[in-house]
Amino acid sequence: RWRRRAMTAATAMSSAIATGAARGTPRKMDKRTTRSATVRRHRSAVRLEATSEAATAETYAPAAAAGESFDWFSAWYPLRPVSFLDANEPNELRVLGKKLVAYLDPTCKEWRVLEDSCPHRRAPLSLGYVQKDGTLACRYHGWAFDGEDGSCVSIPMSVDEAAEKTACASPRSCATSYPSRVEDGILWVWPTAGADGLLASAGAPCATSLAREGTLPGEWGMVELPVGYAPALENQFDPSHAEWLHARYDAEGQLDERANAGFVAMTEFSVREGTMQKDGFVVEHGGYNKSNVGVSASRVFTAPCSSRSEYLDAKGKKYLSAAILYAPTEPGRTLMFTKFQAHQASAVQGAGARKVSPADRINSLVTAPATSLFDFYVDNFTSDPKLVRVGLSHGTPPGSSAYNLGDQDILAMHGVEVEMELQNKPWKQSYYLPTPADAGVSAFRNWMDKHAGGKVAWAPGVVDDASKVKSEAEQLDRYHRHTKHCVACKTALSELGVLEERCVAASKYLLAGGLFLAVTGAAFDQEAPAIIATCLAGASLVGAEKVRDMQHEFLSSVPRRGVP
Ligand code: FES
Ligand SMILES: [Fe+2]
Repeated sequence: RWRRRAMTAATAMSSAIATGAARGTPRKMDKRTTRSATVRRHRSAVRLEATSEAATAETYAPAAAAGESFDWFSAWYPLRPVSFLDANEPNELRVLGKKLVAYLDPTCKEWRVLEDSCPHRRAPLSLGYVQKDGTLACRYHGWAFDGEDGSCVSIPMSVDEAAEKTACASPRSCATSYPSRVEDGILWVWPTAGADGLLASAGAPCATSLAREGTLPGEWGMVELPVGYAPALENQFDPSHAEWLHARYDAEGQLDERANAGFVAMTEFSVREGTMQKDGFVVEHGGYNKSNVGVSASRVFTAPCSSRSEYLDAKGKKYLSAAILYAPTEPGRTLMFTKFQAHQASAVQGAGARKVSPADRINSLVTAPATSLFDFYVDNFTSDPKLVRVGLSHGTPPGSSAYNLGDQDILAMHGVEVEMELQNKPWKQSYYLPTPADAGVSAFRNWMDKHAGGKVAWAPGVVDDASKVKSEAEQLDRYHRHTKHCVACKTALSELGVLEERCVAASKYLLAGGLFLAVTGAAFDQEAPAIIATCLAGASLVGAEKVRDMQHEFLSSVPRRGVP
């Protein structure tokens, strides 16, 4: 049963730990082990402090052969899990700062990806509509495009057929189309158009199919992090942060020794020899808490988007698998796709979960009739019950608890990004990385420096000069992080809005009816109908408020009531 639960928890993660970190069954912290771990950590720090910062970084990343550069425009990028896309409408997307539109051609059921810019007067094609013949029509003046090659097939304001034919034959009327493919449940794009893009992409595999460890079962979760590519990837290569950032704290604000597995200093963390190259690298590391201290893990980075982790226990048995994908959408924003598979009970991420208390049980008994009524409503009165259920599983508890982990990561990553922007210094000067636990961050930064130009290469015209500072509300926003990208969540949110309106309307009619029954009932000494109608009106108002709470879960992590 735990295995099934673990799988469900993992696949329901719409925003999940960027670490692949495992947190085990809470156990009482062993003071002796903790002290010796602290001493070991201190010694290790002292030993490493003796080396220069630059040398420390070099230790973890062997020098690369000169001239081996990663080309940011010659790689497949994940755009969306296919299940997140709207199959009936154009989907607005972005990668490397390029604005894209993807739609499903109804004639052949193939996804098409075009630049989100109409060649006529540059209106967004994502405002348009998919036609029955498989073309995408621009909403501004009705030009229509073949999604396969971007060619213009219709210009409605042409004076005659010959003029239309001439204009459609001009390369200037052609929309820009990009190579795309569906693999491992994801729509991928190759961000170079034309013959060059077609040729280069044809023989290139997507990162997930390159993974020697194979693909993972279950559904992808996906969020768009409000932080840049580098801080997002650093967080991924820094697994031990989970022991503090995602730990539980007691009322005094101290690490709760009973609720956390207890950290253990990492002694093993290095780049596998000979793996650092333009297309990525492999890091290997041990455990970092008392539950996973015996594991040996490998993280395979396939540039620029994939980190595939495999954790083995001390006996060499599978412990935890994680597949995480990243795609830089624009400066300061990054897509993150997640899939986790826990092979053992102690590998289940416990942070964010909480024990079911007797009060919870009583509460669930009291709310059981309302829950059944809600389920009945979803099954019988919504446009697409299956899709609404998927959306509810992403956006409301327990699935939405994954947002809490994401919030913790985002607040830390955003802080790092803003401070690095302020300091405006090379990472080796801004960061002090004296412990083996920092080797993953060094490895990633070294790969960026040696092979990828030190930063993301954005599409022409995209300037990375905007401040990365975002308000807390923007950092904790859920709508732009996930909901607007997910057709299931958008459908669920829309249906909840309808339900709220219906609850409010029902309460108005019931109140009016109750008043009428009270007046007429008084004449016949009949009070019961009026009382029942008034009670139902009150229940409808309570229901409307509950539905408002549910909608808020899809919009923000900032509490709806009280201090934001
Ligand atoms: S801008 Fe697209 S048809 Fe005019
Ligand atoms: Fe969703």
